[in-house]
Formats: sequence, C-alpha cells, structure tokens
Amino acid sequence: MTAGFVLNPLRAVDLDRASRLHREAFEPLGEPGWTRQDIAGLLASPGVAGFLLMADNLDVGMAICRTAADEAELLTVAVGRAHRRRGAARRLLGAVIDRVRGDGARTLFLEVGADNPAALTLYNSLGFETVGRRTAYYRRGDGPPADAFVMRLDFS
Ligand SMILES: CC(C)(COP(=O)(O)OP(=O)(O)OC[C@H]1O[C@@H](n2cnc3c(N)ncnc32)[C@H](O)[C@@H]1OP(=O)(O)O)[C@@H](O)C(=O)NCCC(=O)NCCS
Repeated sequence: MTAGFVLNPLRAVDLDRASRLHREAFEPLGEPGWTRQDIAGLLASPGVAGFLLMADNLDVGMAICRTAADEAELLTVAVGRAHRRRGAARRLLGAVIDRVRGDGARTLFLEVGADNPAALTLYNSLGFETVGRRTAYYRRGDGPPADAFVMRLDFS
C-alpha cells in the first residue's frame, strides 16, 4: 500500500527525526546510526539531497543521495520498523532516482551488506545489478564483519 505517503525534502529542522529513524533502522543491524551532526554534515555537502517520508503525521523513512557529474550514490535509506513492507522504501528510492536523474546522473551506485536480505531483495527488484564485493567492509558490533556488495542501476 503506497497511499497516504507524504514526501518532503529533508530540512535542517528534521535532523533529529531523521537521526531517530536512522538509528532505529541500523542499530539492530549492528551498525551505528547516524547522529544529527552526521546528517547535517552530509546535507551541507555538494550534490547531496535528502528525503523524509511521512504517513498519518508519523515519520516513516528517510533517504539521502549524492550526485557528482553523471554518477550518483545512494548514501542511505531507512524505514522505521513499524512501517515496513508497505512500499515506503520503494517510494523513497523512486524519489532518489527522479532527483539524481534530474541532476544529470546516468548511473546510481550503492553499497549494501551481504547479510542484509531485505535490502538486497529491494534493490534487485528495482533493477540494480551487483558489480563488486568489498570483503569485511561493515563492522558488526561484536560479531564478524560483513562483506558489502556494490550495486549499480544504469538509467540509459
Ligand atoms: C531495507 C528497508 C529499507 C526496506 O524498507 P521497506 O519500506 O520495508 O521496503 P518496501 O516495503 O518498499 O519493500 C519493497 C520490496 O523490497 C523487498 N523487501 C523489503 N523488505 C524485505 C524483507 N524483509 N524481506 C524480503 N524482501 C524485502 C520486497 O521485494 C518488497 O516488495 P514486496 O513487499 O512487494 O514483496 C528496511 O527494511 C530498512 O530500513 N532496513 C534497515 C536499514 C537498511 O537495511 N537499509 C538499507 C541498507 S543498504
């Protein structure tokens, strides 16, 4: 179900909300969530755009991307646990794709944990292809590090 989503640019006043969503999504994966300062620093960088998704006045998810010349990168996407499997990530990624294409990107890259089947299924369903693997790329708390896949979506 995608009805009822409200998508807005991620603004300076949204930093705490975005950080809360990010921590809630990534800490269970053993990754440190981003602080408001982390997110503010990214949003101040050239070519970076962020999105905040809401439904029924509740924060649902966030995404941040960066475009540099004809290449773009998905820096993060996070959906709150109570709002998953309702198309929120698909909606956020649609906004990211529209934005980076509008900014001139011909390719969108991302990195994803090899131990993250939800995200891998999501990206595969959107047409991303795996183009590389980084060994022991993500630290996972006290556990062993996880490999990352590098994935690419071509717009041409
Ligand atoms: C990955 C994540 C962003 C997906 O968000 P979501 O809003 O639940 O995803 P959507 O509802 O838009 O799902 C779209 C498709 O992705 C796939 N998918 C999403 N979650 C899945 C899961 N848990 N298991 C298998 N497939 C999944 C499915 O193909 C799904 O389509 P379907 O529901 O019609 O089967 C969310 O689980 C999350 O925030 N996880 C923690 C943070 C994270 O891993 N971010 C990405 C790191 S690179």
